[in-house]
Amino acid sequence: MKKLTAIILAAGRGTRMKSKLPKVLHKVLGRPLVEYPLQIALKLRCHPAILIVGHEAESIKSRFAGVSSAQFAFQPKQLGSAHAVRMAEKFLQNFTGDVLILSGDVPLLKLETVEKLVALHRSQRNALTLASVRLEDPTGYGRIVRHAGGLVQIIEETDLTAEQKKISEVNGGLYIAQSPLLFEGLRRVKKNPVKQEYYFTDLPSILQQQGQRVGTYLLENSFELLGVNTRFELARAEKIYQQEIVAHWMREGVSFLAPDRVIIQPEVEIGSDTLIHPDVMLLGKTKIGRDCILEQGVLLKDTVLEDGTVLKAYSYLEQSKIGSGAVIGPFARIRPDSILGKKVKIGNFVEVKKSKIGEGSKASHLSYLGDAIIGKNVNIGAGTITCNYDGIAKFKTEIEDEVFIGSDTQLVAPVKLKRGAYIGAGTTVTEDVPSQSLALSRTAQKNILGYAKRKKEKAL
Ligand code: UD1
Ligand code: MG
Repeated sequence: MKKLTAIILAAGRGTRMKSKLPKVLHKVLGRPLVEYPLQIALKLRCHPAILIVGHEAESIKSRFAGVSSAQFAFQPKQLGSAHAVRMAEKFLQNFTGDVLILSGDVPLLKLETVEKLVALHRSQRNALTLASVRLEDPTGYGRIVRHAGGLVQIIEETDLTAEQKKISEVNGGLYIAQSPLLFEGLRRVKKNPVKQEYYFTDLPSILQQQGQRVGTYLLENSFELLGVNTRFELARAEKIYQQEIVAHWMREGVSFLAPDRVIIQPEVEIGSDTLIHPDVMLLGKTKIGRDCILEQGVLLKDTVLEDGTVLKAYSYLEQSKIGSGAVIGPFARIRPDSILGKKVKIGNFVEVKKSKIGEGSKASHLSYLGDAIIGKNVNIGAGTITCNYDGIAKFKTEIEDEVFIGSDTQLVAPVKLKRGAYIGAGTTVTEDVPSQSLALSRTAQKNILGYAKRKKEKAL
């Protein structure tokens, strides 16, 4: 089997994005654009996979520094796609296999499609095979012009005649070519007089003039080769992926009230009969069980929900685990490293951080629970605050099973409330509370009769 290597074009600034970030680091599904072709190259065991970097080269290099088979070729000036590919030549001096050329800005391309391109290229023994597609609106793309005798030419938008502008078959910017024919041909590419750039797209004509075979692979799937050059195209790529992901989960038995108003990242998993309302965002490695309900505006990042959990509207959960049958929100915030047991109830405006809450415990209103270990069937009254931080270090609050905490209580950590303890409303707990005891820190109430009436009379 012939050897395969890949060149990924990622040196351009992406002027049309109007951004300080290089285009290929803009994200789709939370991953930079250039990661998509890089993943394909790595799955095809391309070694090396050479990224052509130029504009903001360092930020791209540092993003992928850990990928051992990735190498970086620097293109000091962005003189066009042919010039960009030539920058990889020094890495491929004695290489005599096939070189895949992928664009850093084409994130919808699928591995299987590239595999088919490689197979077709090899079976036809072409010097170069390019992928093309028919687009309803081909504006901006290079057009595939087919001449008599099977010769193909790519003409860029700026050089098209009015008649050629009507051609719907476009160049997808995905190629495979034999080395060293590729680099020999590229040396002959001349500067485009209009754009003052060296176009890779001149290569088919050059190779055919030398008697080499140039093949085309027309993709049926029209979206895979859609490039990202503008913010509109970035949003379109995201949308196409989202539609695929949502369709997948609907096939797996998940319901969506508004399928086009959710964001679900690729590594998320969702159990059947779960119902998802509009504007829900499921990010990272979030895993959702069966029969859950996620109401409007819920955001989950790297969070596990067991079966039958209800997340009410506008709740925000990160890196946490929620037991089955729990009810969270509306407007609840669960911060990293929280583990909530079965049937826990967390109500509105409750913040939980790095805490463990046992089965059946409740914090229904307006509380902060941080660095706390809370047992089973505990009731946390409205306005309870764990004072876990003294300005220097964080301290733990331990609350054992069956404890009842009245409203507006401060628990100054480190502190322990033993099993079944009872904390009166408004108490500031600074010492451990023994089991089954009442803790109270309020001063006794005194009523001054007639005070209010006298005060008003005096003022008049
Ligand atoms: C290119 C093709 C066009 C094709 C389209 C498909 C050329 C001349 N035209 O146009 O036929 O229809 O892709 O998406 O190739 N790049 C560099 N260095 C450079 C110039 C570009 O690395 O000097 C990189 C860019 O970062 C980008 C890729 O090459 O990832 C393509 O460049 P871009 O400017 O986006 O070309 P298009 O106008 O999209
Ligand atoms: Mg492009």
